[in-house]
Amino acid sequence: MTTPSQDGTIAPQDRIFAALDTPDIERAAALSKAVLGIVGGVKIGKELFTAQGPDGVRLAAGGAPLFLDLKFHDIPNTVAGAVRAAVHLRPAILNVHASGGRAMMQAAAQAARETAEDLGVERPKVIGVTVLTSLDAADLEEVGQRGPAADQVLRLARLTQDSGLDGVVCAPQEIAALREACGPGFLLVVPGIRPSWAASGDQKRVMTPAEAIAAGADHIVIGRPINAADDPRAAAQRIVEELAADAGQGSRSAVPAGPAEKAQAG
Ligand code: C5P
Repeated sequence: MTTPSQDGTIAPQDRIFAALDTPDIERAAALSKAVLGIVGGVKIGKELFTAQGPDGVRLAAGGAPLFLDLKFHDIPNTVAGAVRAAVHLRPAILNVHASGGRAMMQAAAQAARETAEDLGVERPKVIGVTVLTSLDAADLEEVGQRGPAADQVLRLARLTQDSGLDGVVCAPQEIAALREACGPGFLLVVPGIRPSWAASGDQKRVMTPAEAIAAGADHIVIGRPINAADDPRAAAQRIVEELAADAGQGSRSAVPAGPAEKAQAG
């Protein structure tokens, strides 16, 4: 079992969630199996969930710690119901859109807490999505959002925290400001990560895994550098080794236990 070391730091592999971005259940399960025990967990989103449903999610995750990236956004009652259903999949992390507002986020947090208690399982961390990184200033203006995107990110992150959620998903360049604004206990989960040897693809502002951890990320989400590699397991291993070699490992993980340990146990 991998456990946090005595000084409280989290093992590098436990920081990484590999994104299973495919609608194909066999491919997702193979990817998950390939990285099992190497990285901390897997991220499953709308593509696989919509194609394969909850049973597909269970099969694909294969017991690995799960970040269920379904970004719920609806009226509070409906989001609470969705969160209750999601907790049955035993995610370590699930997310909602912060722009759904305070009441919606409070309902999500309450539903996660109560359902986990009822099931006798660890409560998933519930985190908010602030501003989609695919939206630029012009896109935001078009939907009535005036002012810099960075201000809206901060506003929504503070609201997320105030509503009792555990953290946010954020872009690499937002880590430092959010860490400062929301403090050390606020979970920052960061996609847009590229090892120096990987192509950036359509991600425009990337950081390496070590840079993101040094900037204050708790967890990083890595997709194509692992899932599009010729050998996903070797790519994941290389990323973990590079992270381990970096002296700047942080210590702020708030996800229960070491994901890698559960992956091995599962
Ligand atoms: O392949 P890549 O490493 O870019 O994948 C990143 C993962 O994180 C994908 O699942 C993507 O949908 C997700 N994501 C992102 N940027 C965000 C939010 C989520 O890349 N702002």
